[in-house]
Amino acid sequence: MSATAQPGDTAAQVLGALPPTAAVWCSGLRKRYRRRTAVDDVSFTVGRGEVVGLLGPNGAGKTTVIKMLLGLVRPDAGEVLLLGRPARDPRSRAKVGYLPELFRYQPWLTAAEVLALHVRLAGVSRPVAEQSECLGLVGLADRADDRVGGFSKGMQQRLGLAVALVARPEFVVLDEPTSALDPLGRADVRDLLLSLRERGVAVLLNSHLIGEVERVCDRVVILDKGRIAAAGTLAELLGQRELRLRLDEVGVDAEALLAGAGKLTRDGDAFTLALDDTADVPDLVAELVGLGVRVHAVEPGRISLEERLLDILRTGHTEEHR
Ligand SMILES: Nc1ncnc2c1ncn2[C@@H]1O[C@H](COP(=O)(O)OP(=O)(O)O)[C@@H](O)[C@H]1O
Ligand SMILES: [Mg+2]
Repeated sequence: MSATAQPGDTAAQVLGALPPTAAVWCSGLRKRYRRRTAVDDVSFTVGRGEVVGLLGPNGAGKTTVIKMLLGLVRPDAGEVLLLGRPARDPRSRAKVGYLPELFRYQPWLTAAEVLALHVRLAGVSRPVAEQSECLGLVGLADRADDRVGGFSKGMQQRLGLAVALVARPEFVVLDEPTSALDPLGRADVRDLLLSLRERGVAVLLNSHLIGEVERVCDRVVILDKGRIAAAGTLAELLGQRELRLRLDEVGVDAEALLAGAGKLTRDGDAFTLALDDTADVPDLVAELVGLGVRVHAVEPGRISLEERLLDILRTGHTEEHR
C-alpha cells in the first residue's frame, strides 16, 4: 500500500493503487429478536470474485446475516463493510445484486417492465438489448411481455435472478435462488454462477442444495443456531481423502497394512479406506502387491460436503482446518 505511494501522488492515485476491498467484510455480527438470539458473533469475508456458500439448517440465521450485510436489518452489534463502505450507506448497495428469499414483484408489470424498473432503481442505464439478454440468461426470453402476475413461483424466481443481475453488479447475494426451480432451472443457475465467477463477480449463495454449493463455491461458511459452526475452503472442510479398492487374495498382513493407513471398511472384495493425511497411495499399492494382493481397482474419493455438513451439525463442532 504505502510502499507503492510516491511523494507527490494525489490522494486519488494513492487510493487507486490500493488493493480492492473485499466484496463484503463483517465482524462480530449479532442480532436478537425479543429473547431469541438469531445471530451471534458472526464474522467472515467474501473476497472480490469469490463464490462463497452460506449453509445451515432452517432458522440458523442465514437470512438475518444476509440482511445485516445489505443494511436491511440493523445489527445489535458488529460491523459490516459492503464493497468498502459501511453497509448503512446506501451507496454501498449500488453495485450489489440481491435475490431475497421472499419477494413479490408488481403482478401488473411484465417481466421486461420489472427489469426496466430495477435498472432505474439502481440509478444506472442499461440498453434494452442487454435487459432482454438478461431475461434470456434466466430462460425467460419468450415471456418478456407477459405479466408477472401469471408467472409460476419458479418463473418468478428466474425473474428475481434477472433482477439481481441486470445492473451488472460487482457482488451478488442470492438467498435460496433455486428453492422453486425444476432440475433444469437449477442447472441453469449453476451455469450462471460459474459464468459470474469467470467474470470476477463475487457471490454469496445460500442454498439447501448442497451438491450445487459444492460444485460452484470456493469456500463455505456453515451457520448453526446463529453461530459459525465451520468455515473454510472445500479442501479444508473435505480434507479427508477416501480410497475405494477392489482387492483379491488379501491376507492378514495386507489387511493390517490397510487398517494402518486409515479407517477401513470391507464388503467382500470392496474395501473403503478413509486415508490419513500422511498416507501415500502409490506406496500403499506397491506394498499390497508386495504382499501378494491382486489389485483390481483403486479409486480416489472424497466425502461429500453433505456428509461433512451433517457431521458438523450433529457434533456441533469441527476440527479447524484439518
Ligand atoms: N423479523 C423477525 N422477527 C422475529 N424473529 C425473527 C425475524 N427474522 C428472523 N427471526 C428468527 O431468527 C432466527 C433466524 O432466522 P433466519 O435468519 O430467517 O434463518 P435461516 O435463513 O437460516 O432459515 C429464527 O429463529 C427466526 O425465527
Ligand atoms: Mg432463510
